[in-house]
Amino acid sequence: MGHMNILAIETSCDETALSVIHTETFDTENPNFSVLSDLVISQIEIHAKYGGVFPAMAKREHAKNLTPLLVQALQESKLYQESTNVINDADQLKEILEREPELSSELIKLVSKIKKPAIDMIMVTHGPGLAPALWVGVNFARALSILWDIPIVPVNHMEGHITSILLKENYINEKNALLNIHSFTFPYLSLLISGGHTQLVLVKNWGDYQIIGESIDDAVGEAFDKVARMLGFSYPGGPKISQVAIHGKKNDLVQLPRPMIYTKDYRFSFSGLKTAARYLIKELEEKNLLNAHMISDIAYEFEHAVTDVLIKKTILAMQEYSAQGLIIAGGVSANNFIIEAFTKELDEYGSKLYLPEKKLCGDNSLMIATAGFIQYWKNKKTINQSELSAIGNLRL
Ligand code: KG4
Ligand code: ZN
Repeated sequence: MGHMNILAIETSCDETALSVIHTETFDTENPNFSVLSDLVISQIEIHAKYGGVFPAMAKREHAKNLTPLLVQALQESKLYQESTNVINDADQLKEILEREPELSSELIKLVSKIKKPAIDMIMVTHGPGLAPALWVGVNFARALSILWDIPIVPVNHMEGHITSILLKENYINEKNALLNIHSFTFPYLSLLISGGHTQLVLVKNWGDYQIIGESIDDAVGEAFDKVARMLGFSYPGGPKISQVAIHGKKNDLVQLPRPMIYTKDYRFSFSGLKTAARYLIKELEEKNLLNAHMISDIAYEFEHAVTDVLIKKTILAMQEYSAQGLIIAGGVSANNFIIEAFTKELDEYGSKLYLPEKKLCGDNSLMIATAGFIQYWKNKKTINQSELSAIGNLRL
């Protein structure tokens, strides 16, 4: 297959995202693509009021967002053309969209007034994530697959985060948005830190991963968000903790544990740290000491506690597995303090750090396109829409 346009879909949590990429070089040794459109609608403000992501609400928002996003993505990609169109597979479609009433009517309205666009393949996140949220994207993909008669490549969201480091700095204006995928000498270690995951993954090759350790309870992002909430910040609190921590300092009244830092394995635990923070905040509050300075000092100490543990275990794993470099990805990789600490540490250790572009740290569909693209390039495997389902606890 030569020229191809690919639509990528991401709805695993609270970002609805669609991208269109174009490739001319799928079959060559050096595959690459350009980005025709890359869109994200964040639901953060909607969920902020409730202190976290509500699956049912996320599902409804995705359903509302997907059709207008598709219009915009096709327009930006110059693939949008109006024309009356008869829908042939109405029964099959109805069955798929039965569970997505908010999506159904808008989508059917749209596809009956546009010409089938030159999209050749769909890549969609099928897990891990919030099942109701994932299902909207999956059913959207299945419906389009039937309507436009195109195959699907299911993508693991975490693989998306790992491969997000393959996009060039100016990927948007690049004919070849991907770095040369042969310029990497495996194995790498990947530290995945997001709202739902904290994992150390051995990257043996693109598409070949092994989880070597993970959190036994809360994820790093989740701990950030929960501690932020205790300090009075709205969801998602991770970025707010890092903002106030800048003004914080070492304070003898503010001491938090470094859970499991000396265990010789790659498991993490952040729930105890969160509980310790809760007791500390309560104690300081009772003593009337919880002012803005103190809050900054708590944020500072919390960030240090998390970072100390992450660094200790990551370096240990890099040594054991002779990793050639470290990939840090996932939403929390937007945290400057953590990244600066790792940069310094890896410099001393003599190894290279790979990070996604800031824009691609959070959830997006370009990383899904990238992971799906590499997977298809390696295996040339697609599936039929009937074989696709959402898997909330999908593993790498
Ligand atoms: O990968 P992501 O966008 O969604 C999931 O797949 O979970 O990660 C979101 C998480 C949230 O917990 C958010 O608070 C955290 O990433 N986060 C941060 C920062 N920016 C986002 N945590 C700490 N510091 C930040 N600057
Ligand atoms: Zn994510």
